[in-house]
Amino acid sequence: MASTNLKSKGSGYSPELDDAERASRDELMALQKQRLAWSLKHAYDNVAHYKKAFDSAGVHPSDFKDFSDLAKFPFTAKTDLRDNYPFNMFAVPRQQLVRVHASSGTTGKPIVVGYTKADIDVWSQVMARSIRAAGGRTGMIIHNAYGYGLFTGGLGVHYGAEQLGCTVVPISGGMTERQVQLINDFRPDIITVTPSYMLAILDEFKRRGLDPRKSSLKFGIFGAEPWTNAMRAEIEGAFDMDATDIYGLSEVIGPGVAQECVEAKDGLHVWEDHFYPEIIDPDTGAVLPDGQIGELVFTSLTKEAFPVIRYRTRDLTRLLPGTARPGMRRMEKVTGRSDDMIILRGVNVFPTQIEEALLATDWCGGHFIIELSREGRMDEMAIHAEARPERWDGSGLAEHAEKAVAFIKNTIGITAAVKIVAPETLERSLGKAKRVYDKRPKG
Ligand code: DLL
Repeated sequence: MASTNLKSKGSGYSPELDDAERASRDELMALQKQRLAWSLKHAYDNVAHYKKAFDSAGVHPSDFKDFSDLAKFPFTAKTDLRDNYPFNMFAVPRQQLVRVHASSGTTGKPIVVGYTKADIDVWSQVMARSIRAAGGRTGMIIHNAYGYGLFTGGLGVHYGAEQLGCTVVPISGGMTERQVQLINDFRPDIITVTPSYMLAILDEFKRRGLDPRKSSLKFGIFGAEPWTNAMRAEIEGAFDMDATDIYGLSEVIGPGVAQECVEAKDGLHVWEDHFYPEIIDPDTGAVLPDGQIGELVFTSLTKEAFPVIRYRTRDLTRLLPGTARPGMRRMEKVTGRSDDMIILRGVNVFPTQIEEALLATDWCGGHFIIELSREGRMDEMAIHAEARPERWDGSGLAEHAEKAVAFIKNTIGITAAVKIVAPETLERSLGKAKRVYDKRPKG
C-alpha cells in the first residue's frame, strides 16, 4: 500500500502483517464460524445468565450452523451486566482471573470485566497489532497518557506496546505540564491519549513557547471518545504527526477492538478474528446489511473469562469492506452513541456535529461544551466555545459568533446560541471529555 497519506515524520512505513491480517475474507469467515460456535457454547455452559437467556429465547448453541443463525440468540445489554455485579458473568472460576477492570457507569454500579492469562495475551496481541497499524514499530518510545487503573485504556495499551517491543512511558492521564516535559526530554515517537486531552497538551506546548511541530511525536493513537476528521486535521497540523482512531470498550476487551490503518486513514479495521461485529436497527433489533448505519453489536470469539454474546454497544456506525486489511471489515468512525444524541426541537444532533462546525471556523481550536436548557416550553442549546489564544483580541467576536450560528443552522438545521469564551476558561478533561450539560427539567 502506498504511503502517500503519511506526514513526513512518518515516512519509511512498511507493514509487517500477521497471519490474520493477511487472511482472505473466506479464510477469516471460516475461522469466525468455528469460533462463534465455540463462544456460544462456552457462554451457555458456564454462565448462568446466558443459559437462562438462551433457554427463554428457545435457542441452543447447537442451533448455530451459519452466520444467519446468530440473530436467533438474544442480545446482551449493559443492564444484564449490571444485574450480575460483580462476578456473576464470569465463565471461569474467579481463581483463574489474572485481572479485573471496571467501567464507571453514569449511574449505579460499575460494570466489572475479567481476564484469564490467555485473555490478556489476546488483548496484548490485538493492541500490538493496533499500534503497528497506527505506524508504531518495535524499538519506538510510546508516551501512554491513557489513564491507568480500573479504566482499560492505560494497561490495555501498555501490554500491547510491550508485546510489540516498544519502550513504554506509563505516564497515565493528568499533570499536563509534566506530560510536555517528558515528551520533550524522552522524545517519544508515539502518543496514546484521548483526543480532547491531546488538545490540552497542545495548549501546554504553546504556553511554554514550544513548537509542537518540532516535537518528536510521529504517530498519535486517539480514542475512548468520539472525535471527527476535522479534529484529526487540527491535531495533525499542529504536531505534524499522523493521527489514527482506536476503538474499544471494556465489555468487549478494552482498547484494540478496532483500529485505523495509518496508510489509509479511512475508518477502523475491526479485528474480526477475535470480535464479531453486527449492525442492528436500535429500535427493532433487526440486523442491518453492511453499509447501513445502526447500533454496533459485538460477540467475542475467543474470550475465556468474560464472553459477550451480541453485546449492544449503543455506539452508532456502519460496516464497510476491508481496504488496508482486505479480509477484515472496517467500521466507520463512531459519530456518537444512541444515548449521546441530543434531540433539540425534534432534530437529532450529536456533539461531533458541533465539533465539526466549530473546527470549520478559524477562531476555535476544539474546546467546547454544550448546555441544554428549557425556556418555557422550548429547548435551547448554548454552545460555549473557546477562542484560540492567537485569535482572542476581543474584537469582532459577535460577528464570529453570528457566522457560527448561521453555519450550524445551515449544516445541522438547528438554531443554537454560540458564546465565544476566552482561552483556557473551559475545564479540561484528563480523559474522556464531558461535552453535554443537560439542565433541562427532568420528566
Ligand atoms: O474507552 C476503551 C478505550 C480506551 C478505547 C482507550 C480506546 C482507547 P470504555 O471506558 O468501556 O472503554 O468506554 C467504551 O467509549 O462504547 C464508545 O462509546 C466510546 N469509545 C471508545 N473508543 C471510541 C472511539 C474505552 N474511537 C465506550 N470513537 C465505547 C468513539 C469511542 N467512541
